[in-house]
Amino acid sequence: MIKEVFKPNPEFAKNARIKNMCEYQALQDAAIRDYEGFWGSYAKEKLDWVEPFHTVLDESNFPFVKWFEGGKLNVSTQCIDRHLDSRKNKAAILFEGDRGDKQTITYLDLYYNVNRFANLLKNEFGVKKGDRVVIYMPMIPEAAYAMLACARIGAIHSIVFGGFSAEALKDRIEDADAKVVITADGAYRKDKPYMLKPVVDEALNGKTSVERVLVVERNNEEVNWVEGRDFSYNELIKKQSNECEAEAMDAEDPLFLLYTSGSTGKPKGVQHNQAGYILWAQMTMEWVFDVKENDTYWCTADIGWITGHTYIVYGPLSMGATTVMFEGVPTYPDAGRAWKMVQDYKVNQFYTAPTAIRVLHKMGEHEPLKYDLSSLKVLGTVGEPIDPSAWKWYYEEVGGSRCPIVDTYWQTETGGHVISPLPGATPIKPGCATLPLPGIIAEIVDKDGNKKEHDETGLLCITRPWPSMIRGIWGDKERFIKSYFGDVKQNGRGVYFTGDGALYDEDGYITITGRTDDVINVSGHRMGTAEVEAALAKEDEVAEVAVVGKPHPIKGEGIFAYVVMKHSLKDSRFESYEAIEKELNEMIKKEIGNIALCDDIVFVPGLPKTRSGKIMRRILRSIAKGEEITQDISTLEDPSIVATIKSLVK
Ligand code: WTA
Repeated sequence: MIKEVFKPNPEFAKNARIKNMCEYQALQDAAIRDYEGFWGSYAKEKLDWVEPFHTVLDESNFPFVKWFEGGKLNVSTQCIDRHLDSRKNKAAILFEGDRGDKQTITYLDLYYNVNRFANLLKNEFGVKKGDRVVIYMPMIPEAAYAMLACARIGAIHSIVFGGFSAEALKDRIEDADAKVVITADGAYRKDKPYMLKPVVDEALNGKTSVERVLVVERNNEEVNWVEGRDFSYNELIKKQSNECEAEAMDAEDPLFLLYTSGSTGKPKGVQHNQAGYILWAQMTMEWVFDVKENDTYWCTADIGWITGHTYIVYGPLSMGATTVMFEGVPTYPDAGRAWKMVQDYKVNQFYTAPTAIRVLHKMGEHEPLKYDLSSLKVLGTVGEPIDPSAWKWYYEEVGGSRCPIVDTYWQTETGGHVISPLPGATPIKPGCATLPLPGIIAEIVDKDGNKKEHDETGLLCITRPWPSMIRGIWGDKERFIKSYFGDVKQNGRGVYFTGDGALYDEDGYITITGRTDDVINVSGHRMGTAEVEAALAKEDEVAEVAVVGKPHPIKGEGIFAYVVMKHSLKDSRFESYEAIEKELNEMIKKEIGNIALCDDIVFVPGLPKTRSGKIMRRILRSIAKGEEITQDISTLEDPSIVATIKSLVK
């Protein structure tokens, strides 16, 4: 299918860092010609080293690679101290609360706040280099201070998204063996207070590695207090000094863990290390958003996800940009909130998820026209494929047909963008992530690593290690190797497989077709179907369950569960199917959180299984989508179950 092509705006391209496709190609060629030379010179140019590195890349223990060995640096220094000479009074963070309260945090303010926070962790709680600190926070500046304070003293932070339940939080705390939890009493959403501290209390019930809980006061609601364990940030911070020496970290010391869903029930603690991660965070900020010194940049993600890590905190701050941080929801109090903020802050780069674009579109087709959005220069999307109609609306109504859309493809594991248009160079096509960034060797291949022809779906791989690549799954080397390097081989060596399918078009552009594993993408959030199944199976009455994704007009994908009960309704303890459904969703809320609530639950007498007992999920996916069943069902243990299930799905 030939797609419409939109060429870069020449006015914009003139001043862009990468101005045309020749410049892009020259960079990519340089990387291919001398991979280590390419990355080594950027690492020298972009990062401030306490001690220089002696080796750019060591692949001898692949896939456990090392970048910039011998080098020492500190990520908080990269993000703050080095800007103090020239940007002391520049806004680092522009914060807007749900209820419209505002704060401007300059680089100097950030320096003091982070140092005080770091001193608090070190001196009051005895947090040391390598200790794990879980951050369970709302979107308030203290969350960014907490991240950078950990980075300053060499502690490893693990942020858990505030929408996760106590059980999910507990699992993540336990897996990381965390010593400290940083949280808030709660925050505000849609003008109403909501609570986080009670969730932490529940997660820490029983035996735990956590010694201290630090509570930031945000909504001042009353919370339970465990003497000797819980401490008030607002009290302790007053006593801390404004100066805290930054720990010189090895390039390959861990910086953070971020748990993400895989195709088994247990989330994976994706590990990122210091130098390679921060280098790529900064370079992609510069290349992909092309942020200039006086620009204001806004990414609407939550810091609980990788997008918030790299593109609200580490990326913008490492390049000395001004980053907007927003506590609320872009559609509250009305569909114009996001556009009003763009107008008020004169936002130049706006970065959000297709699901948000779809909601904003639905709520107000011409709403953006009511605001002055002329400051916008670049629009970005991330997290899921964007459908051409949402793309068009974003391009025309929001960007005034003037702003390039960077459809950034990447993952928690890649640390930063890997496939994306460059706003001043790449001709763009709706719904297409286009080309690998310079230095990224991404290929669509078959299982043996052979490159696919155009229009043939294959497996999207990154065939050479890159600086911000995942360094491991916390505590599970085998799973790391198996999850990412076990499926595709090239020249006898496992290569990094993203888990996504993709295809080349006639111009060699890459279009992402979606996950090839049992991971679904709900509102841009990765959800392992196995995790949802494990939660549902905890209900006593459930004999068996299978969860699949189903297209959803707003969320991208919705969660569709097939449930087999142990007893008939009459013999169960429930009075109606609605009651069971309610109970099952309660179970999900308890085990994972509201983000994993099921859109559909269908009660079925059995599941389609092969004779060896394997559930045929493909059939279940087709039924959920209302598609014709094209696969051979004669090998099923009970082929008639397919018709039965179909009749039960509305
Ligand atoms: C999907 C989010 C299509 C993909 C940064 C990937 C995308 C998963 C895009 C990672 C895009 C991300 N187009 N699909 N531009 N960006 N994805 O780890 O399936 O939360 O594997 O990281 O989101 O999700 P994660």
